[in-house]
Amino acid sequence: MSRATEAIYVRYQVTDLTRMEIFLRDFGMHPAVPSDGRRLLMRGSGDAPYLYEAVLGDKPCFLGAGIRVASREDLERLAALPESGPIEPVSEVPTGCERVRMRMPDGFEIDALFGGVAAHVVTTVPDLGFNSAHEKPRKNRAVRVTREALPVRRLGHFVLHVTDHDASVAWLRDRFGLVPSDYLGAPGDEGRVIGSFLRVDAGKEWVDHHCMLVLGTPEAEVHHCSFEMDGLDAVMCAHDFLLKRGYTLDCGVGRHLLGSQIFDYWRDPFGFRIEHYTDGDIVNDEHQPTVFAGTADETTQWGAKPPKDFFE
Ligand SMILES: [Fe+2]
Repeated sequence: MSRATEAIYVRYQVTDLTRMEIFLRDFGMHPAVPSDGRRLLMRGSGDAPYLYEAVLGDKPCFLGAGIRVASREDLERLAALPESGPIEPVSEVPTGCERVRMRMPDGFEIDALFGGVAAHVVTTVPDLGFNSAHEKPRKNRAVRVTREALPVRRLGHFVLHVTDHDASVAWLRDRFGLVPSDYLGAPGDEGRVIGSFLRVDAGKEWVDHHCMLVLGTPEAEVHHCSFEMDGLDAVMCAHDFLLKRGYTLDCGVGRHLLGSQIFDYWRDPFGFRIEHYTDGDIVNDEHQPTVFAGTADETTQWGAKPPKDFFE
């Protein structure tokens, strides 16, 4: 088994790259390399070579994602599996990393990546600290923020609807070592697991509560992808900016139950759901998974309640 360290990008097919680039710039990304007219590679302010790949095609659809693995041996193990592609250089960006292409049970493209030079981290607004009642780290400094396109740092997670939950979870466990942080039980029947929040397994190290949520449904499709912002001010300023730009708010701002993120969901120009978040849970191997089988409304602790179609 190989070991994943993080999910780093998502890949969608869209019918208009210019429209998508304008949206993604407003959402907090910028081109990693100039577009060749067939493909758009957008990066954030963190060290990933890119976070979002948009490929020109005849209909909008989700194509897949990229997951970084811990070593070249991991890549070699994955390349040796039946139906995996060979180890190949990632030529789209000048990072020098290598990739193995695979497909999940429903056909989603999953690339394993290793190596390469980290992209330069783009300097963002300095963290002045948040003066809560418990602790007041910001001293002799005023908060001054602006409603503008604020950078996303990295891909936090993505959520897939799959036709066979157990088969997809086993596929991700066997290839990437992803482990469950929490489960979704069927409403009224928590003994029947229909969803798994999966994280990378780093033992005692702290990692995001999930890099993927896999949910069993009749149809395979993406639910959303989610990008981490620098903090609450960034989420709120970006919220105001995206509203001013006339984009469609899907659901936000609020705080999730599972993973605890402060979330803000938008619709991109092709109708795909895309999330800004901050303040998500981090866990290690001492975390005990729970099964949540409550109502849809109970998945939000405060703030905007997701619309009905969010759970369809
Ligand atoms: Fe999310």
